[in-house]
Amino acid sequence: MVLRNFFLFLSKNKTLNKGAKKWGLKLGAKQVIPGVTIESAMDAVKQLNSQGLACTVDHLGEFVFNREEAIEAADYCVRTLEAIAETGVNCNLSLKLTQLGLDIDRNLCRDNMRSILATAQKHNIFVRIDMEDYSHLDATLDLLAELRREYSNVGTVIQAYLYRAARDIEDLKGVSLRLVKGAYKESPEVALQDKAEIDENYLKIIKQHLLNGSYTAIASHDHNIIAKVKQFAKENDIPKTQFEFQMLYGFRTDMQQDIANEGYTMRIYVPFGNDWYGYFMRRLAERPQNVAFALRGLLK
Ligand code: FDA
Repeated sequence: MVLRNFFLFLSKNKTLNKGAKKWGLKLGAKQVIPGVTIESAMDAVKQLNSQGLACTVDHLGEFVFNREEAIEAADYCVRTLEAIAETGVNCNLSLKLTQLGLDIDRNLCRDNMRSILATAQKHNIFVRIDMEDYSHLDATLDLLAELRREYSNVGTVIQAYLYRAARDIEDLKGVSLRLVKGAYKESPEVALQDKAEIDENYLKIIKQHLLNGSYTAIASHDHNIIAKVKQFAKENDIPKTQFEFQMLYGFRTDMQQDIANEGYTMRIYVPFGNDWYGYFMRRLAERPQNVAFALRGLLK
C-alpha cells in the first residue's frame, strides 16, 4: 500500500512528467511502451498481429491545460487512425477525454471526439474511451451517450471498484464495454477498498454484461478471473465472438499468447508517445513487483 501510494504520488508530479518527455523512454519503460512515434507503435502492432494478437493503441498524454494542446492531441489521434488504416493492421484506438479538453471546455472535447469518430468510422475502426478517475465519470458517460446518437463505433470502460458499477452496466446494455477492476485511488465513499470484494464485484459485472448479450472486453492480468470467465462463457453458451480478453503491452506475454492460441480474441493495449512517465508510474503502483522493470532498465 505504501509503495502504491508512493508511485501514484510520483505519477502526478508535473516536473518529473515534463522532464521525462525530454529523456526519451527510460527506467525500463521500453518494456511496457514500445516507442514514442506512430511508426514505432505500428511496428509493434504488426509484430503482435503476426502472433495472432489484436491491438488497441493509445497515444499517451497527461496534463492538458489549454485548447491548443487538446486540439493537437485530437489531430494526433486522427493521424494515428490514418496510420492504422494505411498499414491495414488489426487495431483499435483508445483515448482519454481529459487529453481532448474535457476539463477545459466540454464543447471543445465533443468537437474533438466528433472529428476522431468520423475518421474512425470512415475506416471502420472502433474507439474506446478509457475511464479516468471518479471525478470524470459522469461527464464521460454523458458525452458517450451524446456521441452514440451519431456514432456506433465508440464505447467506454466501467470500473468494478465503484459501488455504482452494476447500475451503470444496466444503463449501458448493448454498448461495447471494457470492464476493469479500476486503477485510481478512490475514496471509500464511492469505491470498494478490499481486493477480494473488488474481484467479486468484477466477476459479477462481467457476468451481467455478458448475460445482457452485450459485447464485453475483460481487461485483466488476473489468471483466476480469466479462468472463471472462460468457464462461465462455456456453461452459458456465450460465443467467443461476444467477448475478448485484453492485457497491457509487455505484461504476462506468455499468457497473452496462450489465450490467443486457444481461439479467444486477445487484444493488447499498446501505449506510445513521449508522455510515458505517468502511465509508467501507475503501472509500478499497481504492481510494485514491476519495479524490477525499472531496476533492469536503470542497469542497462
Ligand atoms: P490485479 O493487479 O488485481 O492482479 C491479480 C492477480 O493477478 C495478482 O495477484 C497476480 O497473481 C496476477 N497478476 C497480475 N498482474 C500480473 C503480472 N504482471 N505478472 C504476473 N502475475 C500477475 N483502469 C482504469 O481505471 N481505467 C481504464 O480505462 C483501464 N484500462 C485498462 C486497459 C487494459 C487493457 C488493462 C489490462 C487494464 C486497464 N485498467 C484500467 C487497469 C485496471 O483497472 C487494473 O488496475 C489493472 O488491470 C490491474 O488489475 P488486474 O485485473 O490486471 O489484476
